[in-house]
Amino acid sequence: MEVLIRDNPDVGCLLGAKMFASVIREKPHAVLGLATGRTPLRLYQELIRMHRDEGLDFSRVTTFNLDEYVGLPATHDQSYRYFMRENFFRHINIDQTRTHVPDGTAADLHTECRGYEQKIADAGGIDLQLLGLGRNGHIGFNEPTGSLRSRTWIKILSEQTLKDNSAVFGSIEKMPKHALTMGIGTILDAKRILLLAFGPAKVRAVEHMIEGPLAAICPGSALQQHPRATVILDENSAAGLHYADHYRWIDQHKFDWQRTK
Ligand code: F6R
Repeated sequence: MEVLIRDNPDVGCLLGAKMFASVIREKPHAVLGLATGRTPLRLYQELIRMHRDEGLDFSRVTTFNLDEYVGLPATHDQSYRYFMRENFFRHINIDQTRTHVPDGTAADLHTECRGYEQKIADAGGIDLQLLGLGRNGHIGFNEPTGSLRSRTWIKILSEQTLKDNSAVFGSIEKMPKHALTMGIGTILDAKRILLLAFGPAKVRAVEHMIEGPLAAICPGSALQQHPRATVILDENSAAGLHYADHYRWIDQHKFDWQRTK
C-alpha cells in the first residue's frame, strides 16, 4: 500500500485528480470506479476544471459507482445517482449512457447486483477505483465484518453510518437502512485503487486500515492485499499512524518514475 500524507485535503484531492487525469490521458476509454460522499468533492471539482481549462476529455470514459441507497430513485436529491449528476457528470462531456450507478429501486435487487457485476466485467474491469473511508472502516457500503471476498450485494447500514450520513436526510428515521454496494472482492479486482481519507474523524479507521491486521472488522484493511493501492491522507487523518515517518521517508526517496502523479 502506498501511503501519501499531504498537508491538507485540498492538496490531497489535487493529487488524486492528477492520478485520474493521467489514467484518462493514457487510456481515453478508461473505466473508472467512483465514490460519493464529502471526501471526493474537491477531486471532482478539479477534474471539472481540467475538463474546462485543459480539455480533459471524458467522452469515451465509462464509470461505475460503488453504491446506492435502496429505495431512492435517481430523482431523489439524496440518491447517489443524483449526487453524481449534480457534482460531476453534468459538468463534463461524459456520455450519460456510459455512467453506471446500482439501481436501488430495481424490482429484483439480487438480479440488479449480479447484472452490475456483469456490466463491470463486460466493460473490461475497472482501471482506477476511487474510495472514501467510513469512520468505522467501511469501503463502499461494506460495513464491518462483511466478507472480504464479497461481490456486489445488498447491505444493511450500520448505526454509525446512519449517524454519519443522516444530517442531509433530516433524521435517521428518514434514511434508507439498506444499500447496494460493490463487494470488497469487486473493489479488489480494480487494476488500481485510490482511497482518500481526511480529517480527525477518520484517524482510527486509517490506523486500522494501514497498520492493523487484515480483518473484516475493518473492511478498508482489505486494501493491504491489493498490489496497486494508494492512500492519500492529510495530517489530521494520519495523526494516529505509528509509522508515519516511514511513509514520509519512502515518499521522499522514490525514483521519479515511482511517484504517483
Ligand atoms: C460513498 C461510499 C462511502 C464513503 C464513506 C466516507 O460512495 O462508498 O464508503 O466513501 O462513507 O464518506 P465521506 O466522504 O462523506 O466521509
